[in-house]
Amino acid sequence: KHILLLGAPGAGKGTQSKRLAAEFDLEHVTTGDALRANKDMDISYMDTEFDTPRAYMEAGELVPDAVVNEIVKTALSQADGYVLDGYPRNLDQAEYLSEITDLDAALFLDVNEEELVDRLTGRRVCSECGTSFHVEFSPPAEEGVCDACGGELVQRDDDSEDTVRERLRVYYENTEPVVEHYRERGELVEIDGEGTPDEVFDEIVDAVDDE
Ligand code: AP5
Ligand code: ZN
Repeated sequence: KHILLLGAPGAGKGTQSKRLAAEFDLEHVTTGDALRANKDMDISYMDTEFDTPRAYMEAGELVPDAVVNEIVKTALSQADGYVLDGYPRNLDQAEYLSEITDLDAALFLDVNEEELVDRLTGRRVCSECGTSFHVEFSPPAEEGVCDACGGELVQRDDDSEDTVRERLRVYYENTEPVVEHYRERGELVEIDGEGTPDEVFDEIVDAVDDE
């Protein structure tokens, strides 16, 4: 299966796509994680404004399409089935994606803006294994310690309130048109993203089973 998971920052894409990939034995392809793992790579040869992905990410801006398209192309060429998370984020990326692959489902996790801000500013991630927690909504058993591996929980650099606001602004300006694009073509499956993680997951699994 080829599944796209769309949603604003904090909508639960990472949380749900990890589970979905495990459930259906798919590759989890996420541009955010790929860029975080390569934050300091030199991208200046692509004639970019900044020399590294880090500069864009810490400001809450999109990393240039040329960089991200290349990551996605390589990852998808190595995957049989996949869940794609964090891409496409603008219409040019959506156009590029349609040239390199076909989709079975485009799912959209719908969450209101206030909830997004609460989720992102309260998120803590494991510095060892990447598992996400939330200080209020899904706290670890022991404060600051990962339940899965015992690693230290940290706040992501771009989860400060100011950067969260900028990421949401970028989302509404650039990525909402992508959601609208799939909706207009009748390809979008809308998922209520405001339930508990288990409720949201059940709704996603039903939608994928229907495709
Ligand atoms: P990326 O890593 O993709 O970040 P994002 O889209 O901002 O999404 P997040 O990871 O913040 O949120 P999520 O939807 O995965 O939510 P999560 O499951 O963690 O991108 C980061 C940056 O990389 C971008 O700003 C950009 O610079 C660059 N980038 C990435 N892709 C790019 C592209 N295609 N083009 C250009 N640049 C790109 O959940 C959030 C929190 O809520 C957690 O604490 C979680 O525990 C909690 N939570 C989850 N579900 C629920 C629930 N149902 N109820 C209550 N709490 C919940
Ligand atoms: Zn961990």
